[in-house]
Amino acid sequence: MTQSTDLPQFPEPYWRQDIDFPSFPKLEEKINVDVGIVGGGIVGLTAAYLLSKRNIKVALIDAGVILNGTTGHTTAKITAQHGLIYDELIKHFGEKKAKLYYEAQIEAKQIIEDNIKELQIECDYESQDAIIYTNSDEYISKLENERKAYDQLDIKSELTEEIPLDIPIKKALVMKDQAQYHPLKYLKALAEECVKNGVLIYENSTAIDVEYNKHPAIITRDGHRIISNYVISASHYPFYDGQAFYPTRMYAERAYVLAVKSAKNYPGGMYITAEDPTRSLRSVTINGEKMWLVIGENHKTGQGKSTMDHYEALQDFAEKYIGVKEYVNRWSAQDLTTLDKVPYVGRISAEEEAVFVATGFRKWGMTNGTIAAKIITDKITGEDSPYGELFTPSRFQADPSLRKFARVNADVAKHLIKGKLEFTENSIDELSPDDATVTRVHGKRTGVYKDKENNLHAVDTTCTHMGCEVSWNSGDRTWDCPCHGSRFSYKGEVIEGPAKRPLERIDLE
Ligand code: FES
Repeated sequence: MTQSTDLPQFPEPYWRQDIDFPSFPKLEEKINVDVGIVGGGIVGLTAAYLLSKRNIKVALIDAGVILNGTTGHTTAKITAQHGLIYDELIKHFGEKKAKLYYEAQIEAKQIIEDNIKELQIECDYESQDAIIYTNSDEYISKLENERKAYDQLDIKSELTEEIPLDIPIKKALVMKDQAQYHPLKYLKALAEECVKNGVLIYENSTAIDVEYNKHPAIITRDGHRIISNYVISASHYPFYDGQAFYPTRMYAERAYVLAVKSAKNYPGGMYITAEDPTRSLRSVTINGEKMWLVIGENHKTGQGKSTMDHYEALQDFAEKYIGVKEYVNRWSAQDLTTLDKVPYVGRISAEEEAVFVATGFRKWGMTNGTIAAKIITDKITGEDSPYGELFTPSRFQADPSLRKFARVNADVAKHLIKGKLEFTENSIDELSPDDATVTRVHGKRTGVYKDKENNLHAVDTTCTHMGCEVSWNSGDRTWDCPCHGSRFSYKGEVIEGPAKRPLERIDLE
């Protein structure tokens, strides 16, 4: 913890601090279960819990350790207010489906509450109002239209010109009775319950493929197999594509979080701006003290300015409006957005009916992830889910998805070419400690990071997913791909897919 207003040197989400997580072995053998789940975040653990309660035999594997991916980096708002969305959903899907989207989020909130009650989980769960606000004239009418959409869908709300923060605003839209919690306290309890129910959990076991037949098998990098009746891909980016071309149907964004000790008391509520750059706020209690989480600065992965500049922009905001005594933590998170903003949840493709996928939650993984686990569990147990059709990955409506489809893929094509052409020839000798550059080594485009001890780490910058060129992320000390959001450590190891293979290491001798 720093004692000044400097940012902490290393990114670390607050949620993982001070919690002892159980550790789990690596998968070292072939196993047979009813359901194999890939990914130990909110979807994987909630699904494992719901299935194991019904005596269904489940195995769950994670490429790293459980609860350290997107779920471990969330801001953990449990709300149906997902930015400005309902007016757009009504226009795109019609009123009935827009209402279903809302009801799905409220049911997810109820599932979380029921689990907390049933398992007596202490996870700092608090009821809070969710508030979208704007200080831009252009967005006043958008907020008013969103309010009309709320009315149409019977969502309790209030339009106001005042919020209890020292931030200039022109209008705000309040959704009552939403919530926040400590996501890892909640999910640690679910993981413990899963173990009691006989779920087999394996860590450091990377799934790389599914062999699809009557009993689909998850194949790990080490060649081990989980043979099952059903597979659930809950790995954020689907670890397996089922020939459904997920990379062409989603894009990845990063956002930044600061945990701030302030001289001001937090007034309650969870806030988010309607306009960009996003600024979002909620409170959190750290060591008995209320702190502010300041979130924002979304940009496409691998395509922003220097990542430390994004943290600095949040610092400017915090210092102007919140009054900073200390920055306690900083971290960043990655989110996936689908073409029509509704997650893909359900059968991965028509041909492979026993493989399910849950992905593309935008920033709203607590409710979307929970309802995804419920939708898939219902399909496996043969129950009808009212939300199945809305979330099905095979939907594809012309407007506005097709335009967006073209845009997402044109953007990928642009980066594929641009990355190859833009080529610096910076000298490695001029690199400062804890800095990186891209240069040419043995004729190859090479990313070189010099660590604090002056050791050089060189990797081929060609992403092992589909060949785009990665860029340096100074905030997290990672190489990030602008095309579909794969991320690699400075040593080239995969941190986040869709890439499955590490970047090639380059010998500088
Ligand atoms: Fe697809 Fe890098 S993530 S090319």
